[in-house]
Amino acid sequence: MSPSLTVRRIAADQGAVLRELRTASLRDAPYAFGDATLEDALLTDAAVFDTAAARYAESHACTSFILYTEGHPAGLIGATFETEPARRAFVSALWVAPAVRHLRGGELLLNAAIDWLIAEGATQVFAWITDNNTTAMRFYERLGFVATGDHVRSKHSPEQWEMLLVRGVASSVRSASSN
Ligand SMILES: CC(C)(COP(=O)(O)OP(=O)(O)OC[C@H]1O[C@@H](n2cnc3c(N)ncnc32)[C@H](O)[C@@H]1OP(=O)(O)O)[C@@H](O)C(=O)NCCC(=O)NCCS
Repeated sequence: MSPSLTVRRIAADQGAVLRELRTASLRDAPYAFGDATLEDALLTDAAVFDTAAARYAESHACTSFILYTEGHPAGLIGATFETEPARRAFVSALWVAPAVRHLRGGELLLNAAIDWLIAEGATQVFAWITDNNTTAMRFYERLGFVATGDHVRSKHSPEQWEMLLVRGVASSVRSASSN
């Protein structure tokens, strides 16, 4: 039987959960998160994650959503607005634990993040993807994202390239998720 998957916005007291999921994702898929490294995450003081969780629980500019399987944290996504004047909306740091992949957990996380971004005024949602992450590319394409044409070298790993994807979300996020 498939485990039941649910998604909730991070709560203010979930700094330790945020730290656990960030380090697990960087350990599992270091190729997927641009300039973020496991070493940096492990060296970051726990209080930084506590502060981030408290901010993400209340902020109108950035947040995180957590995926649960049978009540256990099993995935993460970030949703952020750039600072003015562009105020482009981004999803980032998407990760689903290997044990619960291919069960629509990634889609649940993405839809929760997009719903929140729409509620905060987004009409387009952007995502950076490293070129060699074909799984993420297929995932985002299946959910309606297309290439913007922006293609840049990673700052810390210049041999690695990242491309910017975008999806219009003005109509309704639910129409794509129910396909
Ligand atoms: C990308 C990721 C989040 C997908 O999570 P998931 O919960 O397995 O995804 P879903 O079950 O919601 O999949 C939805 C669709 O995405 C696509 N997809 C997901 N995994 C795929 C894979 N390994 N190969 C090809 N397509 C895939 C499929 O189209 C799938 O639909 P289908 O099952 O009808 O074929 C997950 O593989 C992951 O955490 N990868 C490592 C971290 C990462 O790359 N993050 C993205 C950073 S940009």
